[in-house]
Amino acid sequence: MTIKTLQDLFIHELSDVYSAEKQLSKALPRMARAAENPELAAAFTTHLEETRGQIERIDQLVEAHDLRLKRIKCAAMEGLVEESREVIDEVEKGPVRDAALIGGAQKVEHYEIASYGTLCAMAKKLGYTEGLKFLQDTLAEEKATDAKLSVLAEAGGGNDRAAQAGSAAPAGAALKNGAAGKSASASKTASKN
Ligand SMILES: [Fe+2]
Ligand SMILES: [Fe+2]
Repeated sequence: MTIKTLQDLFIHELSDVYSAEKQLSKALPRMARAAENPELAAAFTTHLEETRGQIERIDQLVEAHDLRLKRIKCAAMEGLVEESREVIDEVEKGPVRDAALIGGAQKVEHYEIASYGTLCAMAKKLGYTEGLKFLQDTLAEEKATDAKLSVLAEAGGGNDRAAQAGSAAPAGAALKNGAAGKSASASKTASKN
């Protein structure tokens, strides 16, 4: 057992989210290229820039408190990135794929919001005042990205046009469109939180 104290756990969680951000920064350019709606592509590109800044904030936190990160791979982000790759392979470019991309991206943001929320609480307990500020700034960016994705989903970058595509599609496409519809409704639920 290498995790014994709250500080050990903090370093583990921070190392995990550091890996998550790095994996996401590699996936976002592909997600931007895969989107049909230019606003959605722009949202992914903007979040790529933010994500690079978030990685720098973790570097600054580590330096400010003289910590050492562990080399671990975030398995959750690996899975989420893999799912976005599957969506791109399985759904042709258009409103249905955009709806699925938004749903997948919101799962990523919710994972990050949970991670940074936990890290903020632990940083407070551990007295990492300077680090807490970095974590709070990132948490605010993740929440704003999630909200922006909800707006895009509801504005027709996802839901409405995807629903139309579903009704016009032949019966054989029902499974594909059903799956995308689920992502779109998940986006709607997220926006109410
Ligand atoms: Fe992030
Ligand atoms: Fe994010």
